[in-house]
Order: sequence, then C-alpha cells, then structure tokens
Amino acid sequence: MELISRILDGSIPYGPEGRLGPVSAGLGAKQDDKIERLKEVPLFESCSRRQLRSVAKIARVFDVAAGTVLTRAGEPGDEFFLLLDGTARVVVSAEKHVPIRPGEFFGEMSLLDGGPRSATVVADTPIRLLVISRGHFSGLLKNVPGLTSTLLVTLSKRVRQAEERAERLGSASAGP
Ligand code: CMP
Repeated sequence: MELISRILDGSIPYGPEGRLGPVSAGLGAKQDDKIERLKEVPLFESCSRRQLRSVAKIARVFDVAAGTVLTRAGEPGDEFFLLLDGTARVVVSAEKHVPIRPGEFFGEMSLLDGGPRSATVVADTPIRLLVISRGHFSGLLKNVPGLTSTLLVTLSKRVRQAEERAERLGSASAGP
C-alpha cells in the first residue's frame, strides 16, 4: 500500500513527536508559502509562477517520522516524492544505500514505466515530503515539458551509477 494510503488509514504509527500526517499549518495550508518553497527546488527551476501554482495545487505535503518506509521494492508504486526536509536513503542492496537529500526526488521510475518499485526507500530522520499522485504526475509532465528532461538526466545518472556498481561487483567476484 502506498505511503499516503498508509498514513491516512492509520497503519503507520505516529512518530515520537507526533509529526506524522498531512501538514495542516504553514507550508501545507498557504499556497504562497508552498510556491516560495517550490521555487528553491532544482526540479522546478524552469517553472513559471503559473506552473508553480499548479504544482502547489496538486502536491500534498506530509511530515513523516524517521524509520518510515516510503517505497518498498517489488510493490506497485503510484506516488512521486520530493524531499523538502530531512534525509532518506535508497536501499539499492544490502551494502549500497544512496542518500536522498532535500531538493532531490524519488519514486519516478514506477510512475514512468508502470513497473514495481525498484528499491526500498526509508526516512533516516523526520522528514517533510511533497507527494504527487500518478494521475497528477503525468498531467504535470505534459504541462511542464522542462521537467521531463530533468527527470531523464537524473535517471541517466542513476543507471550509470548502477552499471558502474554492477561492474565493480562483477570484477570483485571474478577475483585476481
Ligand atoms: P521507483 O522504482 O519508483 O521507487 C524506488 C525509487 O528509488 C526509484 O523509483 C528511484 O527514484 C530510486 N532509486 C532506485 N535506484 C536508485 C539508485 N541506484 N540511485 C538513486 N535512486 C534510486
């Protein structure tokens, strides 16, 4: 089950400070605050004010406790995530975890190809997330063409890193 559904149906327990669930004050409530924050996110740097306003309308902001599983490898995925505050990590393998920092996004792969989540992503600290659902995400890509090229650049980097890693593992297991 995806993150928002788990939050809304109460199956994710509250964190120590009770900071879990839709943000109902400040950033979440005021569109202008949200737009100001979106302006700082590299993914949206090519957006006009009007486009940022439409992003702010479709994006939901959530505070999530440390340790929360945000995506689970092998499960279907219907949400795109952008990290606003805190740190998360992509569990690529037992030995390899890739950090996700504020301004970075994840969850795009399942939305683009319809396949299951390629990796588990976990919140390392209490985090604030911007979440866009599948239907809104495809509309966003149509309305803001610049986003597709940013997504492609990031995807290419991720593939390149994964290939380099596979090569290193291959040569390590082949031995001297
Ligand atoms: P998705 O497969 O939808 O869900 C898990 C996400 O983890 C994936 O999209 C990417 O956003 C991210 N991800 C997967 N593999 C890597 C990687 N090697 N480096 C960074 N992020 C990754």
